[in-house]
Amino acid sequence: MKIKKAVVPVAGLGTRFLPATKAIPKEMLTIVDRPTIQYIVEEIVASGIKEIVLVTASGKSAIENHFDYSFELETFLGQKGKWDLLREVRHISSLIEVVSVRQKEPLGLGHAVKVTESVVGNEPFVVVLGDDMVDAEVPCVFQMLRVFEKFQESVVAVQKVSPEETHNYGIVEGEEVADRVYKVSRLIEKPAPGTTRSNLAIIGRYVLRPEIYGCLARTLPGVGGEIQLTDALDSLRRERELYAYAFVGKRYDAGDKFGYLQATVNFALEHPELGGRFKEYLKRLVSEFKD
Ligand code: G1P
Repeated sequence: MKIKKAVVPVAGLGTRFLPATKAIPKEMLTIVDRPTIQYIVEEIVASGIKEIVLVTASGKSAIENHFDYSFELETFLGQKGKWDLLREVRHISSLIEVVSVRQKEPLGLGHAVKVTESVVGNEPFVVVLGDDMVDAEVPCVFQMLRVFEKFQESVVAVQKVSPEETHNYGIVEGEEVADRVYKVSRLIEKPAPGTTRSNLAIIGRYVLRPEIYGCLARTLPGVGGEIQLTDALDSLRRERELYAYAFVGKRYDAGDKFGYLQATVNFALEHPELGGRFKEYLKRLVSEFKD
């Protein structure tokens, strides 16, 4: 079954980045020269998926505009002969089709996924969270699609975290059944310390079978009074098998100020034009710290 659609929830208020996010969506904050949402969309496209379903809220139109055709800008760049910039501006929007669905109330991640049911329909799909940026040679979504192809069951991306951090994540318990692949026996959203021995934390990448929608419909508000995707997945694993996959790559929590800075440094070092200069600059900076 070929997966064609990726759901990207972008309705969150971005309060952790206020005042930067007072008038612009957090997904439009820039890392080096692209908004964070573009890295996410590029990962999805590089994994072979072209249909993006954005779950939006009011104040998020800048994201839709970013991936849209901009007549004024493109005409201007064309008239000025700025072909490289024109190509850059057109590139990503020419590769994807974007559909937006409104999440009318902030009722949680599970609810954000639920509102996409009429657009996604009865087929498996991918969910990618914009706060989790993954730098990997093989795109993280692509790695997950390979696991889905093999098992034909839903897959969540996981990463090992320290026991002190488990309460910040959805945690998966399970047994390793293949290299990096776990068969899930239980999921707990933001477990209280000491309530699980597992340290496999869900990172914002999911491949979901459409049966998740039925589970979401039955899911009551959980942690924080929100409808949690993790809780719906815990009902799904009672009905069918569910797998967790420890992806290969480096993950940055771009929804957190420190993680955002780490992502900026990482992607600046990898930038084809700036990387070399930036590395030299950092080396100098580090040597000054030593004095
Ligand atoms: C969400 C999910 C959580 C997951 C996390 C990954 O939580 O509910 O299960 O571990 O994303 O970033 P949030 O960070 O939105 O509180």
